[in-house]
Amino acid sequence: MTDQLSSQVPPLAHYRLLGNSGLRVSPLCLGCMGYGKSWQDIMGEHVENEAILDTYVEAGGNFLDMANKYNEGETEEIIGEWMKKRGNRERMVIATKFSIGMRKNDPNAVGNHRKNMISAVKDSLKRLQTDYIDLLYVHFWDFTTPIEEVMSSFHDLISAGKVHYVAFSDTPAWVVAKANTIAQFRGWPHVAAYQGRYSLSDRTMERELIPMLRSEKIAHVPWGVLGQGKLTGKYQRGMQPKIRGGITQMTEKDFQLQDVVTDIAKQLNVSNSQIVLAWMLNHQPGTIPIVGCRTTAQLKEHIQALGIRLNSEQMKRLNDASAIELGFPHDFIGQGFKQNPIIKYRGNENIELDDVPLQ
Ligand SMILES: NC(=O)c1ccc[n+]([C@@H]2O[C@H](COP(=O)([O-])OP(=O)(O)OC[C@H]3O[C@@H](n4cnc5c(N)ncnc54)[C@H](OP(=O)(O)O)[C@@H]3O)[C@@H](O)[C@H]2O)c1
Repeated sequence: MTDQLSSQVPPLAHYRLLGNSGLRVSPLCLGCMGYGKSWQDIMGEHVENEAILDTYVEAGGNFLDMANKYNEGETEEIIGEWMKKRGNRERMVIATKFSIGMRKNDPNAVGNHRKNMISAVKDSLKRLQTDYIDLLYVHFWDFTTPIEEVMSSFHDLISAGKVHYVAFSDTPAWVVAKANTIAQFRGWPHVAAYQGRYSLSDRTMERELIPMLRSEKIAHVPWGVLGQGKLTGKYQRGMQPKIRGGITQMTEKDFQLQDVVTDIAKQLNVSNSQIVLAWMLNHQPGTIPIVGCRTTAQLKEHIQALGIRLNSEQMKRLNDASAIELGFPHDFIGQGFKQNPIIKYRGNENIELDDVPLQ
């Protein structure tokens, strides 16, 4: 059930190190994508923004996620105004992203090249009313800019004091691993964090991305952890989900998984969304999930989920119902030394081999 987190320390003040860095962030990152009016048609109305931000900070939270493009720049403006009012810029760890800009029909307002990166950062700093960004992400891989150009431009922004740490979002594993290796050999800043879509209802990041993040010591800061509300119980068989922030349909597998989530939630007297979040924190303990919420009540639920411990039977049921095919090479060689059938059955039947699983 719900453990009592230390009563002296606010629940989000159990800070974690961000990947292979000394920067400390709260165990939940607050997603701010819904703040603003420009994307209201897909994101819904967000009228409690200030209350959500204040509740998050009161609970010890310090890690805010946004992007230059969210609500066409309004999101960063709202956060900039709020930080100015509260006088808490230095206390906050501000993460934003670039890859797609605001200028229409401008071939260089998209992509991860030096011109777009530097111009996007200049505009984000203005909207945020600050002179540095704590964590700058490539929003998504553009498959065109050379990796060296991205990493050297990151290096320049850090040297100029405009950015403190760099990161990738929505990018293939091979690109991030290569970028980090190049940075290491050139003496450029390493990749501190990665943001990808990962949840109980979508575990595809377990194929290549999560093992890569472990190996590179990059922080895993997933989005979509609630599957945009997929398993919360608000969608039932026969209903068409609203198309919001990415959710397009519920498959029969989603409904079956939701049934398991609902059953365990009832056993523990908590909500479905808390089970979904608790599964992630139990399954991938170092993860720093981004939570999106429209109301303070939703945020409070997420914070309480930090204290939920699922037992091995509950975890097994959730893992089995959400399992994915890992595909090649994992279905051929396993994900660890011991599980590799080639090693096990060809002359090594009677010895025990040490294993470092990457799961
Ligand atoms: N890097 C990227 O490409 C990328 C992409 C998307 C998002 N993000 C980041 O991730 C953040 C979260 O966005 P997301 O798409 O990942 O959303 P999410 O967290 O999976 O879902 C958020 C939505 O779930 C519903 N919800 C939240 N708490 C709930 C609760 N306790 N019970 C029931 N429903 C609940 C709310 O929708 P209702 O309106 O139904 O209440 C809320 O808007 C964004 O703000 C952004 O910072 C990054």
